[in-house]
Amino acid sequence: MPITRKEEEVLNEHFLINSYVEGFTVSQADLCLLKQFTSLPSQDLINLQRWHRHIASFTEEKFIFPDSKSNNLSIIQNGIKVQIMVNTSEENVAIDGNDFKVVEDDVVDPWNVQAASNKGIDYDKLIDRFGSSRIDEALLERFEKLTGQKPHHFLRRGIFFSHRDMHRVLNLVEAGKKFFLYTGRGPSSEAMHVGHLIPFIMTKWLQDVFDVPLVIQLTDDEKYLWKDLKLEQCNKLAYENAKDIIAVGFDRNKTFIFSDIDFVGGAFYKNVLMVQKHVTFNQVKGIFGFDESSNIGKIMFPAIQAVPSFSSSFPFIFGGKKDVPCLIPCAIDQDPYFRMTRDVAPRLGFQKPALIHSTFFPALQGASSKMSASDENSSIFLTDTANQIKKKINKYAFSGGRDTIEEHREKGGDCEVDVSYMYLQFFMEDDDKLENIHQQYSSGQMLTGELKAELIKILQKLIGDHQERRKNVTDNDIKEYMSPRPLNFIESK
Ligand code: TYM
Repeated sequence: MPITRKEEEVLNEHFLINSYVEGFTVSQADLCLLKQFTSLPSQDLINLQRWHRHIASFTEEKFIFPDSKSNNLSIIQNGIKVQIMVNTSEENVAIDGNDFKVVEDDVVDPWNVQAASNKGIDYDKLIDRFGSSRIDEALLERFEKLTGQKPHHFLRRGIFFSHRDMHRVLNLVEAGKKFFLYTGRGPSSEAMHVGHLIPFIMTKWLQDVFDVPLVIQLTDDEKYLWKDLKLEQCNKLAYENAKDIIAVGFDRNKTFIFSDIDFVGGAFYKNVLMVQKHVTFNQVKGIFGFDESSNIGKIMFPAIQAVPSFSSSFPFIFGGKKDVPCLIPCAIDQDPYFRMTRDVAPRLGFQKPALIHSTFFPALQGASSKMSASDENSSIFLTDTANQIKKKINKYAFSGGRDTIEEHREKGGDCEVDVSYMYLQFFMEDDDKLENIHQQYSSGQMLTGELKAELIKILQKLIGDHQERRKNVTDNDIKEYMSPRPLNFIESK
């Protein structure tokens, strides 16, 4: 019997606080429940969807599901029972992934990030598919030589893993020339999550070490066109998010933040028009998957995200200069916009922007999806209290630990799938301490609870400090950062 809507709702409740049908590990019970679905779960039941994607991804690898503890299992909520038909006489091998519509290749675009495997996105494959370059030792050495500083740990640990034309930017720096930085945020929610901080932290480091101007685009127009939000709401969220961005600590004399709704016009809009005239519907259809039913705002929007890459869009900063090179730090989901930009730039007499791409800060439930603001239980928000952080990590962060303490001590935890360990790689700055934790956890000396306690301390401090700085951002600060002004840009000869 296929699963009914009522049963789906029961399961959705169950997977709100449980990762699997029983216990803390995947089992035959999950596989058997998966088989009871004849189609994908309803879109609105996000916990059930997450579980389904996660279990279906195992089947891709012909994963051997361990036996379940019982073969007479059911999940009951509010008196409604979902019977799980665990049949241990069946071959104990995963069903063919083709039985379900699971993603066969990683999906990475500005609106969807979904890994085909539970180990997360295959970033090497993505570099091949997108045609970018790996950030390798040689590039890191150049960073160190030119800045006189150890590269940021996001670079050293491969969190920023891919680039386009970074050597060209470093050649310029070597020749004593300047470039500018460009990044952005689509303000769709009041609370940004910690994943959103990643490109901003990297951008701040780059601004500090290279002492260059920075433009930050708030795409309130994009969010209006894509989301079910009112125009005024998106515009208001842009100003709310600007406070979080200012709290990251960008140099106020060298940073210009703008809302598209309020800023687009003049020289910026002239460049938008030039891009629009040189990119066809067929091209954006191919890059972004638009079709005849997409609203026409979406079809023209990529031109708006493209043009901050061109210095002539900001005459008050660059005095009308057309050729100041641009470097864009972002997660790799934004790359399609800049593939289009790099394609059209030379035809307009502009420089192609350079990019550095980050991996995704994973959802609490595991690396197969990115942290996303639309799934509350997958995210740690910059507005979360110390207590909420502790609860979320303890309750939801997917663990690579073993079922029992004895087994954990004997076999050790698996850092490759452990979300708390992954988060430490992003936020524990001390390399030796991180290495020590890796060693202790994977040898079984350290338990999951102890690993989580380390992470909770770090996140509580990171977010607490952020909240303190954000509290001190005044209306005047916003006005200053968001007013078009020169930013002391002096081109060296
Ligand atoms: P938005 O608001 O979706 O995301 C803002 C920035 O955060 C990155 N990001 C992440 N990084 C790591 N882990 C995650 N889980 C994660 N989720 C999001 C995004 O890649 C982005 O860098 N259209 C853009 C706004 C934009 C922009 C830009 C971004 C306009 N111009 C130039 C980067 C560069 C957007 O909606 O981003």
